[in-house]
Amino acid sequence: MRILGIETSCDETAAAIVEDGCNVLSSLINSQVKIHAKTGGIVPEIAAREHIPVIIPLIEEAFKQAGCDWHDIDAIAVTKGPGLIGSLLVGVDTAKTLAMSKGIPLHGMNHIIGHIYANWLDKEPSKQPEFPLIVLTASGGHNELVLMKRHTNMEFLGSTIDDAAGEAFDKVARLIGLGFPGGPAIQKAAANGDANTFNFPRPMLNDGFNFSFSGLKTSVLVTVRHLLERRDTLDKQTVANLAASFQEALVETLVTKLVRAAKEHCAKEIHIAGGVSANARIRELAGEQARAGHLILRYPERLHYCTDNAAMIASAAYFRPNPCPWKELRAEPNLVLA
Ligand code: KG4
Ligand code: ZN
Repeated sequence: MRILGIETSCDETAAAIVEDGCNVLSSLINSQVKIHAKTGGIVPEIAAREHIPVIIPLIEEAFKQAGCDWHDIDAIAVTKGPGLIGSLLVGVDTAKTLAMSKGIPLHGMNHIIGHIYANWLDKEPSKQPEFPLIVLTASGGHNELVLMKRHTNMEFLGSTIDDAAGEAFDKVARLIGLGFPGGPAIQKAAANGDANTFNFPRPMLNDGFNFSFSGLKTSVLVTVRHLLERRDTLDKQTVANLAASFQEALVETLVTKLVRAAKEHCAKEIHIAGGVSANARIRELAGEQARAGHLILRYPERLHYCTDNAAMIASAAYFRPNPCPWKELRAEPNLVLA
């Protein structure tokens, strides 16, 4: 079964064609990161407008690279939420128009569930994940822990009560003078820093499965203010040490909860997904803890599948179909995991 995936929930326009949920025939992303870097963050109106001229050529290119035409496509899957309303509308309206005019079934997908399915991409059927498993989704806009017993049985264990992990990376990066998006910038700076320099808090470490990162962010802010009382600017080594110490505190918090959830629910596998799963330190620490706990660790095969992409949306629709008549599909910016 071949599904055309479309994703426009935030600042990436993406189109992909995926066969049987895991075989990626094409996956294209047009990132707006350079545009939003100028403002140090995403301006929703601009993000929405930038999707419009890009989406149709991107879908055409996805067909070309996959060597497919419309006769080869069995369904269209589009992100219906959560996300920025203006951005979501571009993808949803495009998918509705195509589904109606081509007479093809349409699936309205949850973006967070899409991230979860990034761990099925490019994996042969015999090497696919085994249930029960725990997934940590950590992105700019969301941060959840999910127990999966089957494709159709997902139990939501916790989420952030304030900032998401990626959002914390972005805000701290801005605070210490690094670029946007903050995650890759912090990771790069942290490579030359000492994570033991500053003892930042590990929020709610042994307390349930919710996350809270606003206190950690404030702790970095207070430290930076103290440092700037004694000097005019932060030197490169201090920025590196701040980045490394912050990254360690955040990553340790995420991984500790992920592994504890796996033990409590007798899971075989732990998965990390979403933009933060691209982080080298989270992969390293999760790998160490998975080995110690005899768990299988998975993160997306390609960095391209960590951040927003359309292959994960097509995969999610294969394993968790959510057909919807084109007339009824709506963008749902506040859609929750259920
Ligand atoms: O999944 P995603 O593309 O968008 C949302 O759905 O939010 O995630 C983007 C987030 C950004 O906050 C970005 O800073 C973070 O993922 N990110 C990283 C890394 N690469 C991207 N965070 C830490 N380390 C990275 N290497
Ligand atoms: Zn995302």
